[in-house]
Amino acid sequence: METISLKDDQKEFSLPVVTGTENEKGIDISTLRSETGYITLDPGYGNTGSCQSSITYIDGEKGILRYRGIPIEELALNSNFIEVADLLIWGSLATREMGERFTNMLTDNALLHESLKHHFEGFPFDAHPMAMLSAMVNALSCYHPVLTKPHNPKEIEKAAAILISKIRTIAAFSYKMSRGEPFIYPKARYSYAENLLHMMFSLPHEHYEVHPEIKRAIDIILILHADHEQNCSTSTVRMVASSGANLFASISAGIAALWGPLHGGANQAVIEMLEKIHSGNLGVKKCIEMAKDKESGFRLMGFGHRVYKNFDPRAQILKELSAKVFDVLKHKDPLLDIARELEDVALRDPYFVERKLYPNIDFYSGIIFRAVGVPTNMYPVFFAIGRLPGWIAHWREATATNRLQIARPRQIYTGPAKQSYIPVDQRSHT
Ligand code: SDX
Repeated sequence: METISLKDDQKEFSLPVVTGTENEKGIDISTLRSETGYITLDPGYGNTGSCQSSITYIDGEKGILRYRGIPIEELALNSNFIEVADLLIWGSLATREMGERFTNMLTDNALLHESLKHHFEGFPFDAHPMAMLSAMVNALSCYHPVLTKPHNPKEIEKAAAILISKIRTIAAFSYKMSRGEPFIYPKARYSYAENLLHMMFSLPHEHYEVHPEIKRAIDIILILHADHEQNCSTSTVRMVASSGANLFASISAGIAALWGPLHGGANQAVIEMLEKIHSGNLGVKKCIEMAKDKESGFRLMGFGHRVYKNFDPRAQILKELSAKVFDVLKHKDPLLDIARELEDVALRDPYFVERKLYPNIDFYSGIIFRAVGVPTNMYPVFFAIGRLPGWIAHWREATATNRLQIARPRQIYTGPAKQSYIPVDQRSHT
């Protein structure tokens, strides 16, 4: 077995090395503290592997992303979101029969229990849809108590069908609630993306016809968002799962983590940044300067990535897709021109080049959602809908053991040394 040595002034320690499919190397430090007394310190876990996983592979330096070994470019070209969901959760491409069965389960589970529907009346009309999504997924578990801790394949398939189908209905209903419009129910003959847009944009008196190219564009966007190995929200799902919490609670926590503007909330922040530039409150040059000035607290949203130090392959696909969607819709949007100008300027600026900051998945997704008529606060919701199969796959992988190990990181304490309690009448706060 390959090992690596660690030496301090007293002793030399030998630690095992774990090698991945693509020859990635990891130092197994699971016995480090007991053998050496040391722990490691890695705020943000940029250098720390939390697990071994067989779901998704990313090579950030080469801009490679593969789901179960299949390159994202091939899946975006040839597959569909439900087939990709199946691939991530079960590890191989479904046969035609298996695919049809899962699709029928999604159709059969598209409705919400009518009592669950009334929960929306408890939210203010302008509640952020991510708050509603996280709350409603947890509430959903009350209606499926048996499936909250699915373990055998049948239970996992049923729980996955319930979550993947109903998250779309919850998203559409939260959009309708925000507009004071009646809920529109799903139609059995519609595809996944088609039903999402139908439930959002149709009205009782006016049917929304989904353009085939737009249906395909949303399907591709959901494929691109479906998984991304140990990102913040997926690590959250695995962390919550490690305590023995149920699948629905783990997904609800993942939604909360995804909402942050540094993560899945970035797609909303990108459009808000582009709108600010377009409204004249911020010039492109000023934007770039602020992004380079640490004091400004401003970041170029949609740029940079913890893992990709090259182009995010998903951003490349979305950039081409945005041109196609605009062409189909005969749509013009000055924000697309501003986005392209920002990208051109940033990619030539030494600050971004030295730090290997490239457009990520969030830089172009918002532009497409905006062209389709999705409001900005729904962009992270579309991200969550896309990421759900990946979260389910990781929950399944993390809990597929009969000895669950709770995730509990250590720390280096830097607070006060031991001191005694001081009675309140002897305290003087200088
Ligand atoms: C997603 O992890 C995933 O896989 C996430 C995701 C997924 O599919 O799950 O890919 C989805 O979350 C994409 C990222 C969306 N977020 C944004 O677009 C927000 C803007 N991006 C940044 O906040 C940042 O790039 C992060 C959060 C994405 C990554 O941050 P890191 O890896 O912690 O990098 P860092 O903050 O240590 O930055 C390194 C340097 C710093 O400068 P120095 O201290 O070295 O001088 O780069 C600078 C940073 O200040 N920097 C930026 C920047 N991103 C990094 N400077 C200006 N604008 C930016 N966007």
